[in-house]
Amino acid sequence: MTIREGSPTRRALLLDEMGIGPVWHARRQGMPAELVAPDAPDVAADVSALQNATHHELAGKNPSEFATPSSLGSTAANSESAPSALSVESSPVSNEEIARMDWTELQAAIATCTRCALCASRTRTVFGVGGASADWLFIGEGPGTNEDRQGEPFVGPAGKLLDNMMAAMDMRRGEKVFITNIVKCRPTDASGKDRAPTSAEAGACLPYLERQIALMQPRMLVALGKTAAVSLLRLDPATSLGSLRGRLHRHAGRPLAVTYHPAYLLRMPRDKAKSWQDLCLALEAEAGIAANADGDADS
Ligand code: URA
Repeated sequence: MTIREGSPTRRALLLDEMGIGPVWHARRQGMPAELVAPDAPDVAADVSALQNATHHELAGKNPSEFATPSSLGSTAANSESAPSALSVESSPVSNEEIARMDWTELQAAIATCTRCALCASRTRTVFGVGGASADWLFIGEGPGTNEDRQGEPFVGPAGKLLDNMMAAMDMRRGEKVFITNIVKCRPTDASGKDRAPTSAEAGACLPYLERQIALMQPRMLVALGKTAAVSLLRLDPATSLGSLRGRLHRHAGRPLAVTYHPAYLLRMPRDKAKSWQDLCLALEAEAGIAANADGDADS
């Protein structure tokens, strides 16, 4: 039997493979206003808040944990005692420089970035995958071992689940979707295992993501997991992911849906159905936005 792409049967099979049922579909109409949370602070405010947060956090830490990004101007950055393992060969690009870059410049800047200590241990930076004018932007936490080796986000088991989730939404990586992370270099702990990025690392890397968003202008952002959600929404890291689901947020004037990280879903498959609800909410809202944009273009 041939199953057409986008057909309800194919979606049902994909959802079944994800362990989700019964199938329910996005209604594809405008989003009720009460489901939309107010916008997060604008980008300029975001950047300066982040810098402050970064300074604050750096000031309280052992300087040996950090590289010396002069553009962040922290106490640690001015320290003479930065370890040689983290020494920075060229001066890190500033937020202002990043905010002026085009797509190619951004790729080059990320590939050689020295804005935080993660540059010392990475194999490859992970810019993201997809088109520069994608409608959807999926944002994870940071590269893991496989991604660090291959230079592409979500290539391990969590990536396979993400691909299945996107397929159920009639999407494939590289088409109308762009996938990236809050940080572009792999964070590891003292024993070399993957870990979540610190707020300081996220703060140092976020201007790149902000520029990616500004250049790409996606219609819908999807935060995969708590790190992505709290970093983008500037929330207390202790905020629970559960409290952010079920409504759309706004980031830099764009709708932002929050759902579970695929790696979490691999450990807690019973939450896959909730994740599918989040994605349906995003699909519904994006369809409404696209329809409005088409209407505006026609009139
Ligand atoms: N987890 C993430 O958050 N991002 C990746 O790229 C891979 C795993």
